[in-house]
This record gives sequence, structure tokens and C-alpha cells, in this order.
Amino acid sequence: MSDYILDRNLTIEAVRVAEAAAIAAHRLIGLGDEKAADQVAVDAMRKALNELEMDGQVVIGEGERDEAPMLYIGEKVGSGKGQKIDIALDPLEGTTLTATGGNNALAVIAFSTEGGLLNAPDTYMDKIAVGGGLPNGVIDLDADPGDNIRELAKAKSCSPSDIIACILSRPRHEEMIAKVREAGASIRLIPDGDIAGVIATATPKTGIDIYMGTGGAPEGVLAAAALRSIGGQMQGRLVFRNDDERTRARRVGIEDLDAKYDLDQLASGDVIFTATGVTDGWMLDGVHRDGDAVTTHTLVMRSKTGTVRWIKARHAAGKVNS
Ligand code: FBP
Repeated sequence: MSDYILDRNLTIEAVRVAEAAAIAAHRLIGLGDEKAADQVAVDAMRKALNELEMDGQVVIGEGERDEAPMLYIGEKVGSGKGQKIDIALDPLEGTTLTATGGNNALAVIAFSTEGGLLNAPDTYMDKIAVGGGLPNGVIDLDADPGDNIRELAKAKSCSPSDIIACILSRPRHEEMIAKVREAGASIRLIPDGDIAGVIATATPKTGIDIYMGTGGAPEGVLAAAALRSIGGQMQGRLVFRNDDERTRARRVGIEDLDAKYDLDQLASGDVIFTATGVTDGWMLDGVHRDGDAVTTHTLVMRSKTGTVRWIKARHAAGKVNS
């Protein structure tokens, strides 16, 4: 049912799922093994998901069925009974961050009413995002980056030099970075983790006003699920490097390969978005050991009510997947 409101109890279940993945991954922080860190997070998230009473289907996952043994796109999760839920997940957003002990690695999951998330292929996406309380259309994916900075400054009644942009540090962003700096704004360059970059625009105290640049398309949909709840504006367009990627897009049902999506098209349903910190970050503490127990810090929000919760938990020794 498209107008079905996601059960409130699912909010705490989503928290448990993200916590499980983060707790599993934290043991691999700084060990230099990205694959192993990802694998333990995937295993833990899948196990936790399969304990839930739901008829879940992964719509954004670890890849297509033939390339991902677990949590692949189309995989059914949960008991198979109860509400039909579409699931977008990234058990470890920031595999390199985790392997190198960097900041802002997260375990992320979003639940949505059926059909409520863009089924994005595993390609790149051009993205731009700002937080809430700004005039509609203040940013435009197709505008010059400098113009976006100037428009945003005007809307915030400040100078472009007061604006802080967040951009992934990649050679492909050199021109964008130059234009943003030319406009007078400063940039928080991040090595990885653009879900956190997008959410930061809508989170007080991060200081970040705008996110822009090209990153993963699945991460774009997950970030949109968060902004739907917390408030903000976002636009995205899929980017294809070759015909194989175009074929992947068509396979997941994308008809217009050049479509420019706004927030409500990226995440149109009732959604619950959850992220647990794996390593310490702007918004969330990472997983920490407390004697034999571990502590977790999780952000969870629902688009239906706009409620945003930060949940700190202490998981007793011997009773967690640690
Ligand atoms: P992983 O956790 O899969 O390594 O993704 C990290 C990430 O930085 C994302 O946040 C971002 O969307 C994407 O990689 C950018 O891709 P690339 O590293 O190819 O530029």
C-alpha cells in the first residue's frame, strides 16, 4: 500500500540493524583490510535484518545478484510476513575510512514503503544538497558552482565567504573546487563518505552549508532518504561511464537515463533512515569499547513525522555481535 505509514516500532528495529553492522565493523578499524571490514558489516546487517518480522526486499544493496552473495539487489529479507518494505542499505559507508581509521564511517540503512526509493544502479550520481529552511530552488544541479554559492549566500543573507561547501576530494572535482573558491566560499574536502556530507548540510553545528559533486548513486538515494526526514533540498542525476552502466540502469527500471531527480523523486515514500557511527564523525561518535561492553551512537529519523533521534546505547559484554 503506497500510503501505508511505516510502523513506529520499525524505527527501533532499524536502529538495531545499523548498530549490529557498526559493532561488527568496528573491530576492523585501522587494520587496513577494506574487504574484511565490509564483509563483517554485511554479515551482521543481514543477520539482524532476517530476524525482523517483515516482507523486506533490498532495492539498494551490495550489487547485483551475480556479483554480491549477500544483500544483493532483489534479495528478500525478514520473515517474509507482515508489511512489505523496500530497503536501501550500505552496511559500511566508508570502507577505506574504516580500514585507515579515518572519520565519518557509518553503517546505514533506510526502510521505505514499497516503491518509495529510486532503484538506483551501482553507478555514479551528480549531487547537490542544502539543508532546510531555504527558498525552493535555491540550488540547481545544472547551474555554475559559483552561482550556486552566490544564490545560497543571498538566501542566507550572508556573504559567499561565509559559506562552507563539502566536496569529495577527487581529481574529477578540480574545476568545481576552483569555481567554489573563486566565488569566495571555503571547502571541507572529504576523502570519502558523501552520505555524511549531504546530511551535514542539514545538521546544525557541522558548519556545512552545501554539498556538491559526483559520488555513488546508491549513496545518493540513501542521503535523500535522510534529507526527506530532516529537511532540505537535493538534486541528483545518474552518471554513466560506459554502456554496461547504462544497461545496469535499465535493468533496475530507469527509463530516462538523463533524468534530473529532486529529493521527492529520489525518496518518495514514507522512510525511516538510520545511521550508526563506526568511526567518530561530525554527527555521530563511532563504536567504542567500554570494558568488555561497547557503546554505539545512532541517528534515526522518520519522514512521516520529521522526528530525528540520536540514540546512545551500551551493549553488554558477551551479548553483542562484537
Ligand atoms: P565505499 O564505502 O563503498 O568505499 O564508498 C565510499 C564513498 O566515498 C562514498 O561515500 C561515495 O559516494 C563514493 O565512495 C565515491 O566513489 P569513488 O571513491 O569512486 O569516488
